[in-house]
Amino acid sequence: MAWRQVLGVLGVLTVLVSGCAGRDSATMEKKSLYDRLGGKPAITAVVDDFIGNVAGDTRINRRFADANIPQLKTMLVDQICEASGGPCTYRGQTMKAAHKGMKISEAEFNALVEDLVKSLDKFKVGAREKNELLSALGGMKGDVVGQ
Ligand code: HEM
Repeated sequence: MAWRQVLGVLGVLTVLVSGCAGRDSATMEKKSLYDRLGGKPAITAVVDDFIGNVAGDTRINRRFADANIPQLKTMLVDQICEASGGPCTYRGQTMKAAHKGMKISEAEFNALVEDLVKSLDKFKVGAREKNELLSALGGMKGDVVGQ
């Protein structure tokens, strides 16, 4: 193959590859957080792992001694699915009602978020998705802490 042809082929390949890359990132921009997280299977896997972290976290695990863990998992998956733009409906209590009378401290709230971050990191959730999810949960802090 003459060098001109080689350059021609490389040129076509470059256009194709950069075209695809451009389209991919444009599509990612428009995708919901739910889709970018990987949908319900990925959210379920993260929540399962997260509950495991909470169970082993002596800073907060006593809080969950009487909890209905399978139900709590379902509630959390539905809540995160709905909040991230997925096709779910959270049917649990409001955050204020669910944590009423518990007098949860800010340190306990932060411990729980830390346990979630561990799971998000373990499942290699991207920085953008991680930040969006954490800021959604951060917005609930006032309804969870000190009730
Ligand atoms: C943004 C942070 C949090 C979110 C999104 C969240 C979410 C939830 C949800 C969805 C429920 C179930 C409500 C229902 O059954 O109707 C729940 C219950 C509960 N949460 Fe939280 N929670 C948060 C923080 C915390 C913290 C920091 C603690 C304690 C350290 C805590 C302790 C509990 C307990 C003990 C229950 C009751 C579980 C049961 O009785 O089965 N939560 N939470």
